[in-house]
Amino acid sequence: MSHRPIILGIVGDSAAGKTTLTRGIAQVLGENDVTVICTDDYHRYDRKQRAELGISALHPDCNYLDIIQQHLSLLRTGQPILKPIYNHSSGTFDPPEYIKPKRFVIVEGLLGYATRGMRDSYDVKVYLAPPEDLRHTWKINRDTRKRGYTREQVIKQIQQRESDSEAFIRPQRQWADVVVSFYPPSDNLTQDELLLAVRLVLRPTIPHPDFSSIIGDGEHAGGAVRLGLDRDMGKPVDVMEIDAHATAEQVRDLERSLCQEVPYLGQFCSLEGNPGIGKLIGTTGETLQSYPLAITQLLITYHMLKAANVSANVA
Ligand code: G6P
Repeated sequence: MSHRPIILGIVGDSAAGKTTLTRGIAQVLGENDVTVICTDDYHRYDRKQRAELGISALHPDCNYLDIIQQHLSLLRTGQPILKPIYNHSSGTFDPPEYIKPKRFVIVEGLLGYATRGMRDSYDVKVYLAPPEDLRHTWKINRDTRKRGYTREQVIKQIQQRESDSEAFIRPQRQWADVVVSFYPPSDNLTQDELLLAVRLVLRPTIPHPDFSSIIGDGEHAGGAVRLGLDRDMGKPVDVMEIDAHATAEQVRDLERSLCQEVPYLGQFCSLEGNPGIGKLIGTTGETLQSYPLAITQLLITYHMLKAANVSANVA
């Protein structure tokens, strides 16, 4: 078992689902064993200063990337940090917080893969890329319900930030080991209960589980789970797609193959009736539920446990 903390990165644009997925992984790994860091805390300017300077929070110059990198190196070697705190309600900074890393550290934020030094600090790198219209819906819901903005203000902000998203956020997708795109099936898009399908891009930068034995010819029973080859940002990748309506039996096969390699995962599977898995409460209280979500949680947890070198059933 590893003696240093294992670090997972979750990067994506504003309201891509980073906080919700982070919570979902922490739930599987055990919240007592997980330290969560949000890199919004490393904004260089408060809200008023940003408005005066005409710079968005998505711009690298608007964030202390060098300090994030320093802190990542400290956390990776098990050392404590004094982390700043950006207060999303007031738009200003609160007094810093002393943080000692637990066994697993999840670092979520907008610019986590912006520099080489930062990228080298993670054991597992995830990039969240929902379709833009779904992200906009999530952003409008969150920022109007939780951050005190009007719908019009959020829409205007999305438009104003588009060039920064394109220049600084989306290119980071190329550095991820796993690109996760949740999407609603065309026949189900209600806002309070979202049944999500998933497309997972599996880059050969880390060894992924071998699903080929269960999805031999590219498709699994009824085509609800599909494995294929594609290109992502110009490079060849494996892609796994799981429909929102995949059945319990189809999902169990996937779970079994993950657990065969990392038996410790078994306790988290829907096989065992784990109530937490595959069901997440979003930041605005909506329920996100589906087997594709469960498999995504398990796959990322699989990589974390492999990085920690957890053997057999011993955690
Ligand atoms: C976006 C990001 C946030 C970031 C914020 C700052 O909404 O998703 O994570 O902290 O911009 O802008 P604010 O609305 O707080 O001025």
